[in-house]
Amino acid sequence: MKKTHYLPLVLLLLFAMILAACGSSGAETPVEEPADTDTVEETAPEEETAPEEEAVTEEEAVTEEETMPEEGGMEAVEVFSWWTGGGEAAGLEAMIEVFSEKYPNIEFINAAVAGGAGTNARAVLATRLQAGDAPDSWQGHAGQELIGTYVAAGQLEPLNFLYEEQGWLDVMPETLIPQISQDGNIYSVPVNIHRANVLWANPAILEEYGVEMPTTLDEWFTAMDTLQEGGMDAPLALGEQWTAMHLFETILLASMGPDAYNGLWDGSNDWSGADVTQALENFQKILSYTNSDASALSWQDAGQIVIDGDAAFNVMGDWQEGFFRELGSVPQEGYTWAPVPGTDGNFQFLSDSFVLPVGAPNRGAAVAWLTVAGSQAGQDAFNPVKGSIPARSDGDVSLYGEYLQSAMADWASNNVVGSLTHGVVANDSWKSEIDTAMGLFLGTDDVASFQSALVDACANTGACQ
Ligand code: GAL
Repeated sequence: MKKTHYLPLVLLLLFAMILAACGSSGAETPVEEPADTDTVEETAPEEETAPEEEAVTEEEAVTEEETMPEEGGMEAVEVFSWWTGGGEAAGLEAMIEVFSEKYPNIEFINAAVAGGAGTNARAVLATRLQAGDAPDSWQGHAGQELIGTYVAAGQLEPLNFLYEEQGWLDVMPETLIPQISQDGNIYSVPVNIHRANVLWANPAILEEYGVEMPTTLDEWFTAMDTLQEGGMDAPLALGEQWTAMHLFETILLASMGPDAYNGLWDGSNDWSGADVTQALENFQKILSYTNSDASALSWQDAGQIVIDGDAAFNVMGDWQEGFFRELGSVPQEGYTWAPVPGTDGNFQFLSDSFVLPVGAPNRGAAVAWLTVAGSQAGQDAFNPVKGSIPARSDGDVSLYGEYLQSAMADWASNNVVGSLTHGVVANDSWKSEIDTAMGLFLGTDDVASFQSALVDACANTGACQ
């Protein structure tokens, strides 16, 4: 390392020592320092810190040296997400509480930007990254959103050191690690597992109309015909466009089955095939049962319609349950659930994870945040409220409600496939082309054009030859 590289480190070390001398002791802000050798090499040599050394006790000096972040400070951590309401904010708050207990001297700056599925937040994040104004950590989905977007752009630091230090490879599911890794490097800390293919329903309404929970697409169509004949115009509540994409991915899975569905994303199945046409026709039919004001509604609004009994069904990820519970609704009374018809035995998953950007302004504090996000205490505080199951396999099952316990069992036993809308199977550029095609389809209702736009989306983004 050239001598000129030491200067910022030395200044940082001096600054941290002055803080320590002022009573903000490192002992109260225990940062587990990465155990890799690079870090050790980059720690500033002692002789260059001499002027301030007398200001701290030997014990404090050792602590500071051991906990000194490679770059950036420990005073504050800015964490970026899209968890601002409907069960999500409460989940985040619960995890912040664990963080603040463990790191009382680090100010938590909640930089959440409202909007389901991160539609607004991710645009804000992209602008910030472009301007060189990265938050200390941000929410990113495991899978192609992470690997094919942020890692591909060289925006993230590998986190292998933290996995080793925290023993996370022993507790994070084997299915998940490849979704957050490239070339042996692990790039994020998954905080949860969500299920996308859930059909939520109002049990009282089903009973009133004499309808059973459907298990196949045909049963579902028949049930919705019955509801419409009984006077319910729109038995399936839908929200803004990303919720249509969410519904779409579950119908692709229901119509094609997991192997053909996976093949669409790994290039072994052709988007122009008759099985895709059938799936698109099923999707078109499903949309005919939805409310006409969908584009103006959030996912919470669509959930609320079911709870209010104005629609029987809604397809949404299991964060919907966090919202239902926040409303005070009770499982099997206010709402019930099943896999989206035709997808039983398949768990269409996504995982929220947090990253360490290259050049995080407060790197040490960001590592502290990631340590909590990956911890059992952090995950068991966050997930029961958020409406997700812990990414870790050692969560305390007794803390989770009836739905989440069933999700834990399904996650462990089902066939696992990835979500499109929530970043697993397609990178941002492919997903954005699909989104454009979806927008047109919602306006035109033209299946043939939709299919050819989907074929083009795959080709344009290099995923299909
Ligand atoms: C997903 C995210 C979930 C939940 C949902 C609705 O993309 O993974 O945690 O926030 O959006 O906002």
